[in-house]
Amino acid sequence: MGLSSCIAISLLFSFLFLTAEATEPPYSCDASSHPYPFCNTKLSIAKRAKDLVSRLTLDEKLSQLVNTAPAIPRLGIPSYQWWSEALHGVADAGFGIRLNGTIKGATSFPQVILTAATFDQNLWYNIGKAIGKEARAVYNAGQATGMTFWAPNINVFRDPRWGRGQETPGEDPFVNGKYSVAFVRGVQGDSFKGGKLGERLQASACCKHFTAYDLDHWKGIDRFVFDARVTSQDLADTFQPPFESCIEKGRASGIMCAYNRVNGVPNCADYNLLTKTARKQWKFNGYITSDCAAVAIIHDEQGYAKTPEDAIADVFRAGMDVECGDYITKHAKSAVKQKKLPIPEIDRALQNLFAVRIRLGLFDGNPRKLPYGTIGPDQVCSKQHLELALQAARDGIVLLKNKNSLLPFPKKNPSIALIGPNANATSQVVLGNYHGRPCNLLTLLQGLREYAKDTRYHPGCDDGTQCDRASIHEAVQLAKKVDYVVLVMGLDQTQEREDHDRDILGLPGKQTDLIQSVARASKKPVVLVILSGGPVDITSAKADEKVGGILWAGYPGELGGRALAQVIFGDHNPGGKLPVTWYPKDFIKVPMTDMRMRADPAAGYPGRTYRFYSGPKVYEFGYGLSYTKYSYKLISLSENTIQMNQSSSRYYENSESVRYKLVREIGEEACKSMSLWVTFGVTNEGNMGGRQPVLLFTRPEKVRIGNPVKQLVGFESVKMEAGETVQVEFRLGLCEHFSTANVYGSMLIQEGSYFLAVGDQEFPINITFST
Ligand SMILES: *[C@@H]1O[C@H](CO)[C@@H](O)[C@H](O)[C@H]1NC(C)=O
Ligand SMILES: *[C@@H]1O[C@H](CO)[C@@H](O)[C@H](O)[C@H]1NC(C)=O
Ligand SMILES: *[C@@H]1O[C@H](CO)[C@@H](O)[C@H](O)[C@H]1NC(C)=O
Ligand SMILES: *[C@@H]1O[C@H](CO)[C@@H](O)[C@H](O)[C@H]1NC(C)=O
Repeated sequence: MGLSSCIAISLLFSFLFLTAEATEPPYSCDASSHPYPFCNTKLSIAKRAKDLVSRLTLDEKLSQLVNTAPAIPRLGIPSYQWWSEALHGVADAGFGIRLNGTIKGATSFPQVILTAATFDQNLWYNIGKAIGKEARAVYNAGQATGMTFWAPNINVFRDPRWGRGQETPGEDPFVNGKYSVAFVRGVQGDSFKGGKLGERLQASACCKHFTAYDLDHWKGIDRFVFDARVTSQDLADTFQPPFESCIEKGRASGIMCAYNRVNGVPNCADYNLLTKTARKQWKFNGYITSDCAAVAIIHDEQGYAKTPEDAIADVFRAGMDVECGDYITKHAKSAVKQKKLPIPEIDRALQNLFAVRIRLGLFDGNPRKLPYGTIGPDQVCSKQHLELALQAARDGIVLLKNKNSLLPFPKKNPSIALIGPNANATSQVVLGNYHGRPCNLLTLLQGLREYAKDTRYHPGCDDGTQCDRASIHEAVQLAKKVDYVVLVMGLDQTQEREDHDRDILGLPGKQTDLIQSVARASKKPVVLVILSGGPVDITSAKADEKVGGILWAGYPGELGGRALAQVIFGDHNPGGKLPVTWYPKDFIKVPMTDMRMRADPAAGYPGRTYRFYSGPKVYEFGYGLSYTKYSYKLISLSENTIQMNQSSSRYYENSESVRYKLVREIGEEACKSMSLWVTFGVTNEGNMGGRQPVLLFTRPEKVRIGNPVKQLVGFESVKMEAGETVQVEFRLGLCEHFSTANVYGSMLIQEGSYFLAVGDQEFPINITFST
C-alpha cells in the first residue's frame, strides 16, 4: 500500500530539510491500492460507502464511530479526524487542523456577530468560500487530518447574556437561516444562487447546535444538564427555522446535536429531531455528530439512560452517526453484546460517515490531482481574503451615536488619546472565541497611528476591568492634553465565552467611571468604542453630552484595527446594523432558563428579541447610523391586497374571530403562486458614498396574542454614491413571509391588514380570503 511509504518518505523529507513541505495529505485509493469498488469514482457515493462498510470487521466498525477515527491499514484507509473548527476562519481549535507547518496561520475574519451586522449575504458567502478554500489549502499542504468543520453556529441569540451569542448571526431566525445558507454554500464550494448543489465538497460545513441550545452556564445551571422547556410554537418559528434553511437550502453535509435536553429528551437521543425532522422531512444528506461528550452525559449527568450501553443505543436509534468523545470506544462493544446496539444501525452510521469522506474526495486517489488539489498555500491569507476580512469588519461596525457630527475626525494628523482596557487589544480580545492563528494582526492602536502619528495609549484600567483611582487619574491627565479622545471599552472572553454566560448587562468593573471621568476632562466630547459580542447597557454614555460618538465593533478580527481607524477618519462610511436587541440592564431579572419567546404580560414576563419583546430598549435590532442620510420611497408594489381563493383550502376562525388558513393545507404549489413584489428606491441624500443594508419588515396592524410585533422578511446590502438612488426589489411569499406559528406549531396565515416597513416608511397591504 502506497500510503505508508508516502508517509515514510515525507517524514524523511522533513527530517532532512527541517520542513513539513513535502507532507502528503492523507488519502485512500492510490494507484497501487487494490481496486476496491469503494475506490471506483464511476459508482454512486452511496454504493461506494456501502461497499467500504461491508468490508469492515465489527471492531473496525466500532473504531470509526468517534471523532478520532483510526486508520484501517489493510484497506489503505488513513485515520480521520472529524473535529475541526472554522467559525470565522480556519482554526486549530479542533484536532483536525495544524497551523504549524508551511502554513502557520489563516485569515481571521471578524467574529460572526459583527459580520452579521453587515446584513450582506454575498459577503457571508464569500467569507464561507474563502474559508473552504483555505481549509483545502491546509489539507493539500498535509496539515489537515480532517475536512469536516463544525461551523456555522446558527442558534438564535435568545438571551443577551449568552456567552456564545458572539458566535451566532444574532437573534433573528430569518437572518440566521440566510447566514447559514450563504456560509455553508461557500464553505462546501457550491454556487450561492441557483445551480445544482454539488455532491463534491470543497470542505464540509455543519449546522450546530441542534436544537434550542443557547444557555452555557448561568447561575449554576449548565448546558450539560439543562432541560430546555420549549413550546411547539417557539420551536416552529424561532428555534427550528435556521436549521431548516441550513439543511434544505444550504445542503449542509453535517449537523451537530446539542448537549441540552428539549422537553426532557436529550437532543442526541431524539429520533423525532434527528431522523424524522432532519433526515426525512428536510431531506438531510450528511452525517450527524454529537457535541463533545454529549453521549456520555446522557447517562452520566442527565441520568436519562440507565446504563452507558443504553445511552449509546439511544443515540444510534435516534440517528446520530459519530460521537465527539470516547464513550463509544469504551462501551459500544458491550452494547452490541447486550443486543442493545443493532449492527444495521452501526452500518447506517458508517455509511453516512464514509459517504461524506468520499464526497470530500478522500477516496479518489491522490487529492492533489483533483479539482481542489491545486489550491496551494498562497491562497491562505491571500490579499483577496485579507481584503474580505477588512471589508467584513468595516461594513459590520455600527455607529450608535454621532452628536453634532463629531465623527469622522478630520485627517489633519491630530493628537489622539486612545484609552481603555480594550484599546490595545490583541488576539484574545479582537478575535473572539474559536479563532485560529491570524496571519497579520493589527491592533486599534496601530490602526489609528496610520492616520494620527501622535496617538498615545493608556489602558485606563489595570487588569482588564479593574480600574483604580490612580490609573483613571493618569488617563484623565492624558485626555486633557490631546485634540481627540477615543475610549475603547466593552467585554472580552473573561466576560462572555463558552461555558460562561454573563450575570450583568452593564459595562464590567469601573468602565463607566473611567468613561465619565475622561469625558468630563477632555476638551471635546469623546468617542466611545465598544468591543463585545453580546449587547451592553450603555444608557449613561448614550445620554452623556460629553460622549459625542459611540461605535460598536463586535470582535473585529485581525484587521479590525484598520477597519475602525478607517471609520473614525472617514475613509469608510459606517452602515452596520445591530443584529440583536440591546436590553436595559434590569433585563437580568428574567431567568435565562425561561425559553419562552413570547411575552406573558400578566406574569410580568417581557418576551424576547425584537419580534416579541416590547419593553424598553437601549438600542433596537436593526439600529445603526451613518455619516450620510438615506431616504426610502416606494417605487412599485405588485398588489396591495393578496386575495386567497376559497378553493385552495378551507379557513378557520380563532377565538378573536380572525380567519386563518393553515400553510400545510394550502400546499407548496399554491404557496409558490402567491407572492407580491415590492420595489423601493433608496437615495443617499448626503455627500459621502456608503453601503446601507435595507431591512424590510412586515407587521400586523393589530398584534394578536402569540404573533410577532414585527418580522424581518427581506434584507439586502446596497452601495450608493453620494446623491445616488438605487432600486431594491423584494419578493414576498405569502406562506413564507406572512405566516406565524400557532400553539400547536402549525404555520398559519391570518386575514387582515399588515404593513411593509422599510426605513421610516410604512405601506399598508391586506390579506383577504375570497368568499
Ligand atoms: C504540528 O503539530 C502536530 C500535532 O501537535 C505534530 O504532530 C506535528 O509534528 C507538528 N508539526 C510540526 C512541523 O511541528
Ligand atoms: C500593544 O500591544 C502590543 C502587542 O501585545 C505590544 O507589543 C505593545 O507594546 C502594546 N503597546 C503599548 C503602547 O503598550
Ligand atoms: C384566485 O382566483 C382568481 C380568479 O380566478 C385568480 O386570478 C387568482 O390568481 C387566484 N389567486 C390565487 C392566489 O390562487
Ligand atoms: C384593507 O382593508 C380595509 C378594510 O376592508 C380597507 O379599509 C383598506 O382600504 C384596505 N387597504 C388596502 C391597502 O387595500
